[in-house]
Amino acid sequence: MGTSAIVCALLSLVLWVYADVVERFEDEPECLEFFYKEKVPVWGEATPDAARLCQRFANRYHFATLYDTKHRIAVYSAYYFQPSNGGGRERRWFVEPQLVNSSLQSEMKDGYWLGKDNPGVYLGEKQALNEDYTHSGFDRGHLNPNGHHPVPSRNATFTLTNVIPQNPKLNQNSWRIHESQLTDLFRANCSKAFVLVGAVPSADHWIVKNGVKRVNIPDRIWNAWCCLDNNGHPIQSGAAAARNTEENKVEKMTLDEMGEYLQQFSNQPVGALFYNDCRP
Ligand SMILES: *[C@@H]1O[C@H](CO)[C@@H](O)[C@H](O)[C@H]1NC(C)=O
Ligand SMILES: *[C@@H]1O[C@H](CO)[C@@H](O)[C@H](O)[C@H]1NC(C)=O
Ligand SMILES: *[C@@H]1O[C@H](CO)[C@@H](O)[C@H](O)[C@H]1NC(C)=O
Repeated sequence: MGTSAIVCALLSLVLWVYADVVERFEDEPECLEFFYKEKVPVWGEATPDAARLCQRFANRYHFATLYDTKHRIAVYSAYYFQPSNGGGRERRWFVEPQLVNSSLQSEMKDGYWLGKDNPGVYLGEKQALNEDYTHSGFDRGHLNPNGHHPVPSRNATFTLTNVIPQNPKLNQNSWRIHESQLTDLFRANCSKAFVLVGAVPSADHWIVKNGVKRVNIPDRIWNAWCCLDNNGHPIQSGAAAARNTEENKVEKMTLDEMGEYLQQFSNQPVGALFYNDCRP
């Protein structure tokens, strides 16, 4: 091997270790930790122009997101619950530099500063930007909720790749209550809990800026969870979904029912959301 080949191999190793946008979640072992038994769901795999994000912040990974770069919202975020005693609200909104240019840094970055560092480069080609949401009438609704993590994972949830245009009433009322009921349940009953939270895009409902369809306003938001005892065995599971409207209603269901629910929106089999359907 020549020197340049060695340099090249080392460089690709370095890039591989710190890749944030990956070809497959399986390429980044630390990213697989956010999926129960390291099983990545089939759901959403065939989404055109999807990017796989290993959400990196403060020098480590915090969760994983399958991101639809055409609709500019996530298909889902995957994480495990971490108890927290609060810790305030991150004030920045992050963007994913590697969706701007794959040679940029591997950590999420405050969109404002990424813009300053790359004058003249448009950041919003493959992702939503903070200004897309301003005066849109929609909340920046977290998929992976900040309330399910302590700092710094909590901060990392404030990336725009983890939010959707969410009806404000739903975000601040019934979905928030649902998230906090899960917090109580996970704290009381689970040694570890894996969660998937996703959105179903609408056919043609968008946040439009200057005549451009910028961010798809999803029709539905859903989540599914798998709760483990301290031997790592599944003991409980569940799911919930809501229409992204004023209706402000969260429908709870079983994991099996969630499979059927999602099947309405796809021609491909949904497949297991968790390894072995989170069966004991
Ligand atoms: C996380 O957010 C909190 C609250 O805004 C802030 O005080 C803290 O510095 C942030 N942590 C990091 C690592 O940026
Ligand atoms: C990405 O950045 C590199 C280095 O600055 C530059 O050479 C390249 O043209 C950029 N690629 C795109 C698609 O903008
Ligand atoms: C814990 O699980 C039991 C059923 O196994 C359930 O009745 C109870 O409500 C759960 N705890 C919380 C806080 O949700």
